[in-house]
Amino acid sequence: MRILAIESSCDETAAAIVDIGPHHRQILSNVVASQINTHALYGGVVPEIASRAHIEAISMVTQQAQRDASLTLSDLDAIAVTYTPGLIGCLLVGVSFAKSLAFSAGLPLIPVDHIKAHAAAAYFEHPTLEAPFTAFVVSGGHTSIYSVSAPSQFEEIGGTRDDAAGEAFDKVGRILGLPYPGGAAMDALAAEGYALLAEGKLDKISLPSPALRDTFDFSFSGLKTACVNYIHNYRQIHGLDKTDPIPHEERVRVAVSFTDAAVQGICKTLEKVMHHTGEKKLVLAGGVAANSHLRKAVLSVAEKENTALYMPPLKLCGDNGAMVGAQAYFEYIAGIRAGTDLNAFASGETAVICSTL
Ligand code: KG4
Ligand code: ZN
Repeated sequence: MRILAIESSCDETAAAIVDIGPHHRQILSNVVASQINTHALYGGVVPEIASRAHIEAISMVTQQAQRDASLTLSDLDAIAVTYTPGLIGCLLVGVSFAKSLAFSAGLPLIPVDHIKAHAAAAYFEHPTLEAPFTAFVVSGGHTSIYSVSAPSQFEEIGGTRDDAAGEAFDKVGRILGLPYPGGAAMDALAAEGYALLAEGKLDKISLPSPALRDTFDFSFSGLKTACVNYIHNYRQIHGLDKTDPIPHEERVRVAVSFTDAAVQGICKTLEKVMHHTGEKKLVLAGGVAANSHLRKAVLSVAEKENTALYMPPLKLCGDNGAMVGAQAYFEYIAGIRAGTDLNAFASGETAVICSTL
C-alpha cells in the first residue's frame, strides 16, 4: 500500500511516500525541510514563525516527495498526517493540507500520533519487528516508555516529570555556547570527553541522575540545573563575563558529565523496565536516539538482558514523513480513518476518529 505521509508537528516540514504491506516496508521518498537555521537565531523554536514556515514549505515538500518517488496522487492508496502531539499551529498546517489533499484526490485519510510514528521508524530497518515490544521514545519534546501490545496500542509506563531529555541536551548545549539545537554537538564533545576519561586525563563533574527510584519515570530538570549552576560558578571563579566563551576542555567536561549522567540514568531505568515486564524486544527511537553514546550503552544493557534492540537509522531518528507513513499503515490495518472534521491536538489527546471521506 502506497501512502503519502505528512509531518509538521514542530520545526520540520516533511513528506514521504512509503510502500508497506505484510511482507515489505519500503521508503520511496523522504523529504524534510528543516527550519533549524531560522529558529537558531532565537535559541529555540518560535511557534508562530514555525507555523508560517510550514505554510510556505508544505506544498513544495509534498510535490518533491511525489517527484522523488516518480509517483502522482493517482498512484497512491492513502494520505497520512501527524495530528498530535505538537505545536498546535504547526499541526494545523499539516492537518488542513492533508485533509484538502485527501478530499480532492478521493483518498482515505489516516491520522497518526507523532510519538507512535517515532517508534514506527524502526520498522524499516527491522522488517521482522512486530508488536508486542517496549518502546522508549526520547526526543526534544518527549521522553516516554511504552508497553506496545499491538502496533497502535501504546500504554505509557514511564515518562519525564519535567524536561524532555532532548530539551536538557539543548539547554546545556546553549549554556556551553553551542548552536541550537545542541544535541549533536554535545554528542561530539562528549566523544572527546570519553576518550580523555579512558586515558585518565579528565575528571567528571558529579551530577544528579535523571532516574527516579521505585518508578519508571525520569526527572531531567535537576541534571540540567546542576550543569547550569556549574557553568555559572565556573564563570564567577574564573572572572568570565556572561558572553565570554567557556574554554574547550571545560565544555568537554560538562558535555561528557551530562551525557554520562543522562545515559546511565536512562539505562538504569530501561533495565528496571526489562526486569519488570519480561519483554524481550526494545525499540529506541526519537531525535535523542541518534546519540552515539546512548545507542552504545542501551545496546550493551539489551545484550546483558538478552533483549533484542531495534533502533531506526540516524536519518530516521529525527522528525520525518516516512515514520508517519509506517505508523499510518498499521493504523489503516486497524481500521483507523479520519474525516474532513479531523482536528489537531497539542498534547496527545485521542481525537474522535470518524470515517467520512
Ligand atoms: O525527534 P526530534 O527531531 O523532535 C522532537 O520530536 O522533539 O528530536 C529533536 C531533539 C533535539 O533536542 C536534538 O538536540 C536532539 O533531538 N538530538 C540529539 C542528537 N541529535 C538530535 N540529542 C543528543 N544527541 C544527538 N546526537
Ligand atoms: Zn519528534
